[in-house]
Amino acid sequence: VPNNKVKLVEVGPRDGLQNEKKAIPLATKIELIERLARTGVSTIEAGSFVSPKWVPQMANSSDILEHILQSKLHAPVPMTYSFLSPNTRGLQNAADILRANPRTFSTELDPQNNSKGEPNTAVEIAVFAAATESFSQKNLNCDIQTSLERFKAVIQDAKALGLRVRAYVSVVLGCPFEGFDVDPHKVAGISTELLEAGADEISLGDTTGMGTAPRTSALLRCMSAAGIRTEDIAMHFHDTYGQALVNTAVSLEHGIRTFDSSVGGLGGCPYSPGATGNVATENMVYFMETLGMDTGIDLDAMSDIGHWITAELGKSNDSTVGKAVLGA
Ligand code: HMG
Ligand code: MG
Repeated sequence: VPNNKVKLVEVGPRDGLQNEKKAIPLATKIELIERLARTGVSTIEAGSFVSPKWVPQMANSSDILEHILQSKLHAPVPMTYSFLSPNTRGLQNAADILRANPRTFSTELDPQNNSKGEPNTAVEIAVFAAATESFSQKNLNCDIQTSLERFKAVIQDAKALGLRVRAYVSVVLGCPFEGFDVDPHKVAGISTELLEAGADEISLGDTTGMGTAPRTSALLRCMSAAGIRTEDIAMHFHDTYGQALVNTAVSLEHGIRTFDSSVGGLGGCPYSPGATGNVATENMVYFMETLGMDTGIDLDAMSDIGHWITAELGKSNDSTVGKAVLGA
């Protein structure tokens, strides 16, 4: 893989929508996912198999997965669709849909196979731990160690189904309840446990956007010192304090090549009061282009989607780049 390739994980349909109070029609969610799939992005986080009592907006994720598996949409690149699953119950719900649609997804994407007109789609599961006990309790209703035991079971079952597994660690650079006082060694320890349990990738969540350049750098140095490879790490920056691109630059210098972002800067975590959306995908694509990095994503198409979905939700478009591109 050339060093100038960057993988962006589009989390708008999950992180971007989960916090919306008004129920978003299934058709709008599906239109969002399909439009995104045409931009050249290779991974879309499309939903969440969590308790509908906890996050009502994600309640129809089964319908979304089913639609994806039955869709004839031909994306320009092989696609991975990712779904959060906090426990074996969530994975079971996803597995039911996968078993009902056995031939429409592959466990291995074939980069050569994308011109043959066949859907070239893989499904990924994501578990989500926290770096502080308070956030773990608020988000998962259990302590960190209990969550890790549950995730080990989810990872094992997901692997048995042939699914790739991503593992988030949240609040790595600041916690809404414990402040800046998050121990990077704790983050590295949790990450190591999840990788040893079989996770394919760790996504480090700056849930609150409290991350700064020096603290991002310190965290990544600590991850490296713990023996975790940069290719196994993704960065997930919320942009609450406007530091996401600065922290992205630091992460790039450290060798990270996978970043999460959300079209239109949508998003926020229901259990992180005051935190705003992820860094906007449009801003990320533009930033990478200025550095000569290749995301494979069509910036104009992405900007159109950001304009459309924020209008659809009655929100302001939080992507400065998206607005500039559209002359708005
Ligand atoms: P709990 O209440 O302790 O769970 O919640 P429980 O096992 O006692 O079950 C309670 C009820 O939920 C039962 O139903 C279960 O059947 C049901 P009842 O008997 O009352 O009718 N249930 C489920 N239903 C559907 N799917 C499931 C499921 N599990 C249980 N998978 C639980 C524990 C983990 C379920 C809950 O805390 C939960 O759903 N939490 C999810 C919270 C969440 O989605 N947060 C946002 C995503 S994380 C995030 O945004 C951060 C991230 O972006 C990275 C970053 O920015 O840092 C990823
Ligand atoms: Mg998030």
